[in-house]
This record gives sequence, C-alpha cells and structure tokens, in this order.
Amino acid sequence: MVPRQRFSDHAGLGRQWADFVGRLCARILFLRLFPGSRQGGLVFSVRLRLDGRMETILVTGAAGFIGSHTVDRLLADGFTVVGVDNFRTGRKENLEKAGKSDRFRLEEADCTDAERMKALVASARPLAVIHLAALVSVQESMENPDLNFRLNLHAVHVMAEAARLAGVKRFVFASSAAIYGEHTNMPIRESVRKRPISPYGAAKYAAEGLLLGFGRSFDMTVVCQRYFNVFGPRQDPSSPYSGVISIFDRLFREGKPVTIFGTGRQTRDFVSVHDVARANLLAATGKVRASCSHNICTGKPASLHDLVKQFGRHYPGYPAPRFEAARPGDIEQSIGSPETAKQTINFWAEIDLAGGLRELVQGKPLDIGSPLDPRPGFLER
Ligand code: UD1
Repeated sequence: MVPRQRFSDHAGLGRQWADFVGRLCARILFLRLFPGSRQGGLVFSVRLRLDGRMETILVTGAAGFIGSHTVDRLLADGFTVVGVDNFRTGRKENLEKAGKSDRFRLEEADCTDAERMKALVASARPLAVIHLAALVSVQESMENPDLNFRLNLHAVHVMAEAARLAGVKRFVFASSAAIYGEHTNMPIRESVRKRPISPYGAAKYAAEGLLLGFGRSFDMTVVCQRYFNVFGPRQDPSSPYSGVISIFDRLFREGKPVTIFGTGRQTRDFVSVHDVARANLLAATGKVRASCSHNICTGKPASLHDLVKQFGRHYPGYPAPRFEAARPGDIEQSIGSPETAKQTINFWAEIDLAGGLRELVQGKPLDIGSPLDPRPGFLER
C-alpha cells in the first residue's frame, strides 16, 4: 500500500483547518449574498481536501470523446485532473480547453502498462479513478478480438490493481449497453439477463464482474456506468467504426447520402456526451452507498429513420439514404431504463436528441460549463 500523506504536526493541521473553514465560510457568505450566482459557485469551487490539498481525479482515455468532456466537466467543478491517454484514438485538440487550466495535467501512457499505471496512480493519489480508455467499437471488436481483450479487459484489471495499491476509494468504469445483447422487452433494466453478442459486450461484462469483485474484496466503491449510444461534439466521424450520429452529421453537412445498415427500424437510446460527463462527475465525487452498475441513458428510443428525419429538418432537400445489409453483431433494439441511476448517483439525462443535434449542426456549444454546486454531499465530504 502506498501510504497516504499524514499531517506532520499540530500547527500544520490547525493552519489547514483554518484555511478550509475560511474558504467554506466565504463560500457560504457569497452564496447567501448572491443567491443563484453561478459565478459565485465558480470562484469558490476549487476543491480542497481536509489536508488542504487539491482534490484530484484521474481520468484514463482523457483525450477521447467522452474522456475530454469528462475532464472539462471536472475542471469546471473545481477538481484537479490528471489525464492519461496513449493517443491511439484520442486527440490532443480535444483537450485544448482543459490544457489552459493549471489544474490539468496530461500523461501520455498506455493503460496496459502496469508499472507505469501503478506509479502514476500512486503519485496522483486521486479521490477517484474514472477509467474510460477503451476500444469503443463493437465492429472493431469483431475484427480484432485480441485487441478488444487487451484494451477492454486486461487494461481494466491493470487500472483496478493500480487504484487498489494506491488506496483509491472510488473507481468509475465505462461499461456499455452492449453487455445486454438482444432483448425484446424495452426499456432494458439492469437486472435482465446479460447476453452480449460481441467480444466488445462480453469484455465489458467480464470487466464489470472483475471490478465488482474488487469492490467486495477491498476498500473501494466501484461504479459501472452502462452507457447507451453517446453522441455530441468531438465524436470522431472519420472511421467506419464511428458512432452513427457523428457519421450522419458529417454526411449531411457535405450534402452526401447517409448509409443505413439494415432496415433503419433499429432503435437506440442516444444520450448527450454532456449528460454522460455529468454522470461521470456524480459517480466519481457524489455520495454512493455501495458498488453498483446502472444504465446511463435517456429512456427514449429513436430509430435510424427518426435520426434521418431530425437531421433532415436542418438540411431541407437532403439526398435519400442508401441501404446496406445489417452489420454483424448489431443489436435491433436498445433502450435503457434510466431509473436506477436516479437512485444510485442522482443522475438523469437533461439534453434531448433534438437539442443535442441542434448543438452539433449549429456548432454552438451548450452552456454546460458551470459548476453543479451546491449539491447534496459536497459540504459533508
Ligand atoms: C454503440 C457504441 C458502443 C456502445 C454501444 C452501446 C459507437 C461507435 N459505439 O454501438 O461503444 O457500447 O453503442 O449500445 O458509438 N449505422 C448505420 N449507418 C452508419 C453507421 C451506423 O446504419 O453509417 C447503424 C449501425 O448498424 C447500428 C446503429 O446505426 O445499427 C448504431 O451504430 P453505432 O453508432 O455504431 O453504435 P452501436 O453499434 O449501437
């Protein structure tokens, strides 16, 4: 175990307490004087632990689509963030905003490198690890199951072990709706039988099991976030493995026809990346009673035809879609029940598909940068 830093003397302890109490009083006074002032929240929202250190969260896959939004969200809420990325699919541009903060540090490293990860987590001594680094495509996992195993299962073990050795108390994991496989009863609740139909879904399910075992065996609370279909700015449209909304967005913009694999009647639960980033923040820093797994979704279905129709509103006279055979491993219906996450981490999605698509098409970022405070749990930590 890497020992946690202890207070070295009573005078130091007194000073740190005075500093902490002083900041707390200033914050309460400010919010009393200017109720509803978001700026007030921002000024006083730099997170300090009782020992006066900044509160740090370690995020893997930080330069990726979900990772970079999670980093931005954590920074907006006053946390210090150590980001880890190997840039296999992550991009430096995604961290342009984060890079301007003196509370952000980026480490170029691979999550399968056990020694490096142990050293990194031990030196960062984070409150929580948010493990988002992954192979994200169902399709790619079918073509390269070995890579899927290394990135979606082996790396999870490496990170969990590094976190355990460093005494990290909270571990948030990017799981997926793909663990459920094919079901006919919608919405999908967490308790249904898991029947993954791709190496990707199977690895995510196995990783959940591994982590929940860590949670039961060690002093660590594990939160598995089963993301449904995440979309939003910075999702890379350039590969055939990219998320359907990012591909459609680019093709509509270029006036080219989109391709629908299968009938187009397949449904998905599209959840905005801003909501997902907020769910990650809540899972890492909010009150969580016990290790848990839950859906991160909206509970609202949209078919690919709906998607084409919604995009079409922004691009009148768009070319008709082309149709191709369904992709192997593709799920027909996927709509989640959002109820459990309300209870476990106090999360529900706030951005609907129309609003999220408008943000993409117009290129105007939604106003999501303000801190979430005051929120239950913060002052008691
Ligand atoms: C997605 C995620 C995966 C996540 C899972 C959760 C991506 C790349 N993958 O997989 O990480 O775990 O949701 O359920 O975000 N399609 C077309 N035309 C295209 C592209 C796709 O018709 O040009 C179809 C696909 O065949 C599929 C649907 O759109 O039926 C959604 O595809 P995709 O965005 O790749 O996501 P999932 O396979 O659902």
